[in-house]
Amino acid sequence: MTQLKVIPGGPLHGTARVAGDKSLSHRALMLGALSDGVSHVRGLLPGGDCLATLGCMRALGIEIEVRSDGFSRSEAAEAVTTSLDVTIHGRGLRGLQAPTAPLDCIRAGTAMRLLTGILAGQPFDSILTGDPQLLRRPMRRVVEPLRAMGADITDTDGRAPLTIHGRTLHGGEHRLAVASAQVKSAILLAGLFADGPVTVHQPGPSRDHTERMLKAQIANRKLADQRISGSAGLPTTHPALIVDGLTVTLNSSAIDHLHPLNMTIPGDISSAAFPLVAAVLVPGSEITLTGVNVNPTRTGLLDVLAAMGAEIVWVNEGEQGGEPVADLVVRSARLRGTEIGGDTVVRMIDEFPILAVAATQAEGRTVVRDAAELRVKETDRVAVVVEELRKLGATIEPLPDGFIIEGPTPLHGAAVDSHGDHRLGMALAVAGLAAEGETVIGHAECIADSFPGFVDVMAQLGGGFHHGDTENTKF
Ligand code: S3P
Repeated sequence: MTQLKVIPGGPLHGTARVAGDKSLSHRALMLGALSDGVSHVRGLLPGGDCLATLGCMRALGIEIEVRSDGFSRSEAAEAVTTSLDVTIHGRGLRGLQAPTAPLDCIRAGTAMRLLTGILAGQPFDSILTGDPQLLRRPMRRVVEPLRAMGADITDTDGRAPLTIHGRTLHGGEHRLAVASAQVKSAILLAGLFADGPVTVHQPGPSRDHTERMLKAQIANRKLADQRISGSAGLPTTHPALIVDGLTVTLNSSAIDHLHPLNMTIPGDISSAAFPLVAAVLVPGSEITLTGVNVNPTRTGLLDVLAAMGAEIVWVNEGEQGGEPVADLVVRSARLRGTEIGGDTVVRMIDEFPILAVAATQAEGRTVVRDAAELRVKETDRVAVVVEELRKLGATIEPLPDGFIIEGPTPLHGAAVDSHGDHRLGMALAVAGLAAEGETVIGHAECIADSFPGFVDVMAQLGGGFHHGDTENTKF
């Protein structure tokens, strides 16, 4: 086990770049593989989750060349790779090869769910598996809609390992019970291999990275091939991807092939969230986080922190890799409690551990509802956030679909544990900066699942971070 020791220091200052967007990195590896030609992807996240996807794509016959582009240096003087430039030799929509062994998604839920969609429509069989933590997570949410498309998937009591007997899939309509980008994406990716259009109706907005990337990649079938007679006898074309509010339709018959990608992945707002909240909480801080993906389906935390009284200014707004980006300038502020529910929850679904830390320092009560999904993330994030923040002195009560936090509470340093959940590990590290005394986070190595270089970024900004031992400091 690797421990991370946090000793509160002075204010945070300076400029930093956080690791690349995890959601985009997974999708770039998968959609680059399915494209016709060579994709160049810069700034790919070398986090454990995305390396799992990289390994799976290679096992499916895709050649991927990797060059480390960004390094930071941990206290143990060991280089931590923070960014990869990859060249993906795409083999087209029909080019994946049968794997010779089960595909290991390690702890990556996104890898497993999106790959299930792709593999269901292949002309070969495959098995998806992973670490015990991933084997506990619900997979029915993707398996059931895929079965409705004709997929032949054997699950293990609603969970992985999944045995997939690839076959031709059929189009159809799907009404999702939960707003989930992973489920939506699995269905759309399966739709690439279906013999008719697939339509997904979402109950609320979820991250739209798959739609954006596909839109940039789709090469339409030649007009002549897709002419149909309109009522006036005029030729009409089938659009390949239609986004209409919360409804997304993918029509594979209008797709000739996918163009390769040439993109730079922006910074992950879900990683930026940790230094950002640290700067809000530690008095006298002012930091700038550059090149952060500010896709509106991901910025719920920024809206909530602003409502709580934080001052976050967007500068240098632009576009990168088909996504809106900005530099975020953050200053320390006094926060007040707030209520979070409804559509905002999905727009910040990965940010609740760190939001909970912010709420412990806010004046008054913060209530989170409509977030039952937190219970089926890497851990039961309601239970583990409550358990660990209480050790630091927080006043927090669980709800079936969220939690209630009373603040402000002075936190005191303690021995806490990540439970193998990267976002809990980082949230506890930030809590340690706002606490009195030393905090030691157990099982901190999991931080590298999504944010290799986290400790270096925090140390660069002035946070009092130290590795508890010298082994395995890849975070
Ligand atoms: C993700 C979607 C979200 C999120 C996960 C990444 C994605 O999951 O929690 O970290 O890349 O599509 P759900 O779609 O299950 O909410």
